[in-house]
Amino acid sequence: MTGNCLNEGIMSTHGSTESPLLGVNIDHVATLRQARGIDFPDPTDIALLAEKAGADYITLHLREDRRHIQDFDVAHMHRRLTTYMNLEIAVTREMLDIAARVKPRDVCFVPEKRQELTTEGGLNVCEQKQRIGDACKELEDAGIRVSLFIDADPEQIDAAKEIGARTVEIHTGHYANAAAADKNSEANKLLSAFQYAKDLGLIVNAGHGLNYENVHPIAASSAVSEFNIGHSIISRALYVGIEKAVHDMKRILTEARQVSVR
Ligand code: PXP
Repeated sequence: MTGNCLNEGIMSTHGSTESPLLGVNIDHVATLRQARGIDFPDPTDIALLAEKAGADYITLHLREDRRHIQDFDVAHMHRRLTTYMNLEIAVTREMLDIAARVKPRDVCFVPEKRQELTTEGGLNVCEQKQRIGDACKELEDAGIRVSLFIDADPEQIDAAKEIGARTVEIHTGHYANAAAADKNSEANKLLSAFQYAKDLGLIVNAGHGLNYENVHPIAASSAVSEFNIGHSIISRALYVGIEKAVHDMKRILTEARQVSVR
């Protein structure tokens, strides 16, 4: 499981030696806890271990249905983290108020559907410019850095820029879930979107569905500043422990920047 797959057919991406930041998404520790309705395992404990192993920050998603992370996790973790928190929320009044109260360093706006297993697509910024723009401004005015989770679609990237977003997180799920025959074209779509957003002056992050096997080709893009990765790291932690799981992902991200992908 090295992730060192130098895929033929993926457009050239010259690595910069600077490693991208890794945000470890801790939601699924809470999924395990909620399955029993008790207080163990505690996502904050695991977040602290992830930080020790090299996580640059901790990401968590407070969903409207509270299926994994709970309000007390957000407050408790925010007090105890030694790095900082990236809080994923839907653009609702309730969530904006929670973010303004807790004041995480970063907030990522994501779309939410009640029935989905996980976040299925990016925000439709094009169709909600006013609402999302107002929400961005509200949290930015409160001193929180806001990013918008969007698909690798130039129209959505343009709309994010137009409403004054500073940061976008490009949804990598379509690439991650693509059949083998479509993998390279999905990777190229991502790489083009990363560069397009960066050239517009946006800070570019990426995440969703990334794992030890598929992250390398896209982590080679020096356009991306940060990767948010959860399910694969928490799953691997069951086999090797959270520290090694985080450490291995950090190493892959660092190595990806030290080579050029053909
Ligand atoms: N980025 C965003 C915006 C997400 O909603 C999620 C899932 O909560 C992730 C990254 C992490 O995805 P995964 O758990 O598949 O690595």
